[in-house]
Amino acid sequence: MQIVRSIAELKNILNPRKREGRTVGFVPTMGFLHEGHMELVEEARKDHDIVVMSIFVNPAQFGPGEDYDAYPRDEQHDAELASTAGVDYLFIPSVDEMYPRKSGISILPGEQASRLCGASRPGHFDGVLKVLLKLFSIVDPDESYFGMKDAQQLAIIETFVQDFNLRTSIARVPTVREEDGLAKSSRNVRLLEHERNEASAINRALSQGKRSYYEGVPLQEVAKIVRKAIEEETSGTIDYVDVLAYPSLEENIDDTDEVILAAAVQFTHARLIDNIIMSTI
Ligand code: PAJ
Repeated sequence: MQIVRSIAELKNILNPRKREGRTVGFVPTMGFLHEGHMELVEEARKDHDIVVMSIFVNPAQFGPGEDYDAYPRDEQHDAELASTAGVDYLFIPSVDEMYPRKSGISILPGEQASRLCGASRPGHFDGVLKVLLKLFSIVDPDESYFGMKDAQQLAIIETFVQDFNLRTSIARVPTVREEDGLAKSSRNVRLLEHERNEASAINRALSQGKRSYYEGVPLQEVAKIVRKAIEEETSGTIDYVDVLAYPSLEENIDDTDEVILAAAVQFTHARLIDNIIMSTI
């Protein structure tokens, strides 16, 4: 595995290989890698000749007062994991390399970004799309891999890629979980010990919600059941528990085959999100 820090160097490496007809699978991350990220690499490895992973804690997607500075980082460990997982090129640009000047140009996602995390993190998805457009332009991958753990992010990216005719296709990868059901996340290390024990309640509550829905409980009631279970079993503060059409993220679920049941819970130093997709047919 080769670590690459400059945009020009990465392009110089990839372009001749692409001309030889090799395909590129791309896994964008913010590092502090765990098995969730590794699963994306595994999928990319199966489908493509070359696997590129990026590690970039993207300042544009953190709001004021959010955890940009405190976001966990461990480049050496990340490099070891990425290499073992089969990454060929690990792209780790600096902030100056990615954002050498204020461009003044923003990318504004639509309605899909106004709900769930978009409601409590204004501008977050603008920053995600900004960095991804840059990364897609630099890497020019055939396929890019994203986790269903961040289902809203994935839905917005799919819309972005379709509506703007970007060349990459997008692969959805299921959420990888700890043994107790907690979705793996780089932010889990920021949980206090008692919060880590409680956090598995989020997935249990969502699963309970899914069971209730399949037993015939109406969706609005399902959201209430999930909310109550999380309130009772954790000391965290609920940011949202919501049910929306997926992937449109519309409130009207009449014309959708799938809905997302999603929750966000704020603990002392970490805000955790999780979701479950349910079939309406
Ligand atoms: P990050 O949180 O590092 O996540 C990188 C990718 O890993 C995302 O596609 C995310 O959905 C996926 N992922 C995280 N935890 C997962 C889990 N438990 N199971 C499966 N996949 C998981 O998401 C970002 O970074 C950034 O917003 C980024 C897309 C890189 C743009 O900066």
